Amino acid sequence: MNSDVEIAGDPLALPHLMPPAPAHPTTVAGFARLIRTIAADSPGWAPLVQYDPVSRWYHRLRTGPGYEVWLLSWLPGQGSGRHDHGASSGVFTVLDGELTEHSQGQRHVLRPDAQRVFAPGYVHEVVNDGLAPAVSLHVYFPGLTEMAMHPSGGACTAAAAALAAD
Ligand SMILES: [Fe+2]
Repeated sequence: MNSDVEIAGDPLALPHLMPPAPAHPTTVAGFARLIRTIAADSPGWAPLVQYDPVSRWYHRLRTGPGYEVWLLSWLPGQGSGRHDHGASSGVFTVLDGELTEHSQGQRHVLRPDAQRVFAPGYVHEVVNDGLAPAVSLHVYFPGLTEMAMHPSGGACTAAAAALAAD
């Protein structure tokens, strides 16, 4: 019995017959791949990072059809507050340092290479409750146009825990 490769030939040997790779991601897996690719290019993002002692620092790193990529920095103690993302879905990762995400009663400690994915309606709070600055990378699709704040869900930062213990 002949295999498909014997009949049709090895498609990997005929790259000119392969469909071209899409220029922009259109799936969650594609956005997760985009995040990994940008994260691996530290010479591309690290020189751009700034820190703001007053509030988190934001920089729109890239845009594409229907999506935006944001670079954020977080000094110790800085956090997002509890919020949603309107109609946007997203993927985010930590590039440097450590962040803690509180969502749906769960606490996730995020270090470089960890990825979180969320759909519209997802509510979370992200804080840097470590002692070192942190940098994160976020993709929103469609681009983030609203970010409604929600009452605190009782996220417990290290600082709050220390205050409560006093
Ligand atoms: Fe968020």
